[in-house]
Amino acid sequence: MAIIRSVIRGVGAYLPKRVMTNEDMSKIVDTTDDWIIERTGIKARHIAADGELTSDLGIAAAKQALVRAGIDPIDIDLVICATATPDRTFPSTAVRIQHELGVTKGAAFDIQAVCSGFVYGLATADNFLKAGQSRRALVIGAETFSRILDWEDRTTCVLFGDGAGAVVLEAQTQFGSREDRGILASQLRSDGRFEDMLYVDGGPSSTMTTGHLRMNGREVFRHAVQKISGVIEETLVMTGYAASEIDLFVPHQANARILDGIAKKLSISPERVIKTLENHGNTSAASIPLALNQALAEQKISEGDLVLMEAMGGGFTWGAALVRW
Ligand code: UT7
Repeated sequence: MAIIRSVIRGVGAYLPKRVMTNEDMSKIVDTTDDWIIERTGIKARHIAADGELTSDLGIAAAKQALVRAGIDPIDIDLVICATATPDRTFPSTAVRIQHELGVTKGAAFDIQAVCSGFVYGLATADNFLKAGQSRRALVIGAETFSRILDWEDRTTCVLFGDGAGAVVLEAQTQFGSREDRGILASQLRSDGRFEDMLYVDGGPSSTMTTGHLRMNGREVFRHAVQKISGVIEETLVMTGYAASEIDLFVPHQANARILDGIAKKLSISPERVIKTLENHGNTSAASIPLALNQALAEQKISEGDLVLMEAMGGGFTWGAALVRW
């Protein structure tokens, strides 16, 4: 039976020019290159320039994705920006991106699911396309976490960085089988009982300030492998695929030890896991499209490949998506 699938037509990414190494970090807080590499796998992160906004990062990534997709902005009718670091409290960062790209049709809005934002955005866009409400969507993950870090807190400031990534999705009629191209399945989860494990201690309604990121890293770590593995297994069940059939695993880039733990639990061999956090740390909602971009640049993804994405973040929120490229 013919059905509509959301096919990824193009991917783009952008990292700010300024690079901060672990060595640079050790001049600001009591840390070492060895500690950061051993505990996280991170070597460097990119930091947005003064006046360079989340939307600027998102626009650069979106433009590249559109060019690579060969799609004109006037043919986009849905812009979703996943971000926890919007330019302003309102309007959404997505409307500025929409305006700067010259998109005039359909809707633009932000999604707030922190590090899970890209998976949330992908699943949301997929449902709009499958419902026939949109034809071509831009899903962007863009963050300037450097603006909400407490630069005196060594337990958090070494982990995050700025960046953006974007994908262009197009509604295409497919056969309705698991061999179809496009998003085959996605699953989203959240559990607000854990809201105090990873949060920002400010906001317009609570403190009238922006606030700083706070995290109980050990607890987040403890939940991550278990929750992510669970939602991946549920996503695989929806399509009947086994983890052994995944060609490429493109996870949210938070900590190399979390990635290794999930891959081991699901028996996904290391050469099928994309790891990019070494170069840019945890970029929250931007990390999956940044990783997709790197995988494509390294020619690790070919048409027809089965690609698995997952993420977990503040909330907790978590989710997974299975895509045939
Ligand atoms: O994307 C959103 C999701 N976020 C995550 O997935 C993050 C999950 N958590 C983690 O990745 C890890 O828990 C961290 C990387 C944040 C921390 O690693 P850990 O192995 O859990 O370390 P820890 O928190 O247990 O700290 C071990 C020690 C502590 O010292 P004591 O108490 O043992 O004396 C910390 O004070 O390491 C110390 N420490 C540091 N030392 C040098 C913490 N941060 C640093 C640092 N440099 N930057």
